[in-house]
Amino acid sequence: MTDARKAGRYQRLREQLEAELTKSGDPIARMATAVAILHAKQPHFFWTGFYRRVGDQLVVGPYQGSLACQNIDWGRGVCGTAAAEDRTLVVPDVHAFPGHIACDARSHSEVVVPFHDPDGTVAGVLDVDATVPDAFDDVDALHLEAIVGMVFPEGIR
Ligand code: SME
Repeated sequence: MTDARKAGRYQRLREQLEAELTKSGDPIARMATAVAILHAKQPHFFWTGFYRRVGDQLVVGPYQGSLACQNIDWGRGVCGTAAAEDRTLVVPDVHAFPGHIACDARSHSEVVVPFHDPDGTVAGVLDVDATVPDAFDDVDALHLEAIVGMVFPEGIR
């Protein structure tokens, strides 16, 4: 898919998400709604979901796709690294990423975006996987960061 086509899909799904997110302030409902819209509207998304920080682990939240690992140690794998370093990670080949956690061997590339508490502490991540290498780029990173900001405009409460 071209970047322009991908960006057009993000634009449309963000409009839909904006309307849906007026309907609940509940964090689980908001995460589930975002995941459902993203997973349905972006054909390169093979696994789409949230992990939340619980103690020194990331624990799986609302997701769509194949069965996921439930617990990820802080700092481990792509998700744990993005959370620990508090930055978006775009990984073109997860098999080349040190400590990658293969929940499903079909996942080949990945983008992970942290989200925060109201005080700015990392509270979890949005994780998206694709079966093809190099599926994600800056277009995905920028739109997914904006979408995480829509789901938790003041941080997760
Ligand atoms: N691949 C991830 C684990 C989560 S799953 O892909 C659902 C990682 O290394 O963090």
